[in-house]
Amino acid sequence: MEFKASLEISQSIVNELAGSAFVHKMQGQLFKSQGFEKLGQKYIDHYNEEMNWVEKYTDRMLDLGCVPQVNVKSETTLINDAVEYIKADLVLQREGVESLYKIMPALAADPTTYDLTKAYLADEEEDLYWDEEQLELIAQIGKQNWLMKQM
Ligand SMILES: [Fe+2]
Ligand SMILES: [Fe+2]
Repeated sequence: MEFKASLEISQSIVNELAGSAFVHKMQGQLFKSQGFEKLGQKYIDHYNEEMNWVEKYTDRMLDLGCVPQVNVKSETTLINDAVEYIKADLVLQREGVESLYKIMPALAADPTTYDLTKAYLADEEEDLYWDEEQLELIAQIGKQNWLMKQM
């Protein structure tokens, strides 16, 4: 069996996800410091959830006999305004989901990595819907009311 595509894709998911998950964690700490305890905790939990996927892809690479590289780089400026952050995250989330859709066919020969990525993709789609729902809610109830619910 040839697992070159699986290994490359797994490594790139590990690199990207570990970096972006860490941003969620720091955003969570920022939101907590502003008094938005619930929203902050949501993002900190989200970090843990995403690092679980990093762990699964790492295990998959190890199972395939490959020791992963550590190549995590994430450079960004945290966004103070929670609503602006959700808008920015939605853009990234859409790009991420789109690229996962494109990746799927390359995994066709490896059902295990395919299934793992299919489950990860479903999870990322949920995150996308969450962002969309929040922005709809903000449009309906107003920013101040939405922020009150995040305390
Ligand atoms: Fe995320
Ligand atoms: Fe996610």
